[in-house]
Amino acid sequence: MSFHSWDLDDLLTRAIGWVRAGAELIGSLSRDALRVEHKGTRNDLVTQVDREVEALIRSRIGDETGWPVVGEEFDNPDDTTGPCWYLDPIDGTMNFVQTGRDYAISLALYDGEEPVLAVVLDVVRDECYTAIAGRGAHCNGERLASVDPDRGLADGIVLTDLKEILALPRLTAAIAESRGHRRYGSAALECVEVAAGRAGAFVHLWVSPWDIAAARLICTECGVRFTRLDATTLRIGEPGSVLVAPPRTHQELVSALLR
Ligand code: IPD
Ligand code: CA
Ligand code: CA
Repeated sequence: MSFHSWDLDDLLTRAIGWVRAGAELIGSLSRDALRVEHKGTRNDLVTQVDREVEALIRSRIGDETGWPVVGEEFDNPDDTTGPCWYLDPIDGTMNFVQTGRDYAISLALYDGEEPVLAVVLDVVRDECYTAIAGRGAHCNGERLASVDPDRGLADGIVLTDLKEILALPRLTAAIAESRGHRRYGSAALECVEVAAGRAGAFVHLWVSPWDIAAARLICTECGVRFTRLDATTLRIGEPGSVLVAPPRTHQELVSALLR
């Protein structure tokens, strides 16, 4: 069934409800019972909570829409050409385990390559960022202002990781021209920081579809450019780099990184 027969406000309300149910599940579980596993490298973590939250939201999505879900912790569908959900049950699992804050549940609906709606919930701050394509972005129901397109690199903080600084020597010089750099450890929340105007840019060399599917729409609805590092358009199903910034900062970073 196509999403065109759905009322998008109703669909967004449902999506917020599923994400909030995931947050309630997180809140109901004792941190003492956390079981932490390594997925590959020692800093790539997963817990039973990641899996339980994903299972819960997948089951609600299945019952209420029947559309496929691409998520981090379970097997994913081959066909994502029609309506398809992208789910990260906990974005910032290292924070969830180590600090207990700065993690999010991220859920987006796409129609093939087109974002339709998005939810990013900062679980601990209880800040719920939402967007419907063409209708702006909101935080807890309050409309987010568009970013200043002329805001330059010199006027903002750059969110990036040590990995990017080491891999991209020119990024160091760009950061030196900015207000400095920060790293919070949740790609979804870091993109949203740019949408909300608190950060000037987010630079990351390797994100997966579920990390940024929702945050991307929240950003673009606020006038933020959201591309690969070389300024090309991203295909949502493919992992890769992201460069997220208001237009002028975006242009300045592309010039600084690729010249
Ligand atoms: C990770 C976080 C992190 C980013 C990684 C992601 P996870 O997601 O978003 O900030 O640097 O690339 O994999 O594993 O916590 O869902
Ligand atoms: Ca993630
Ligand atoms: Ca995750």
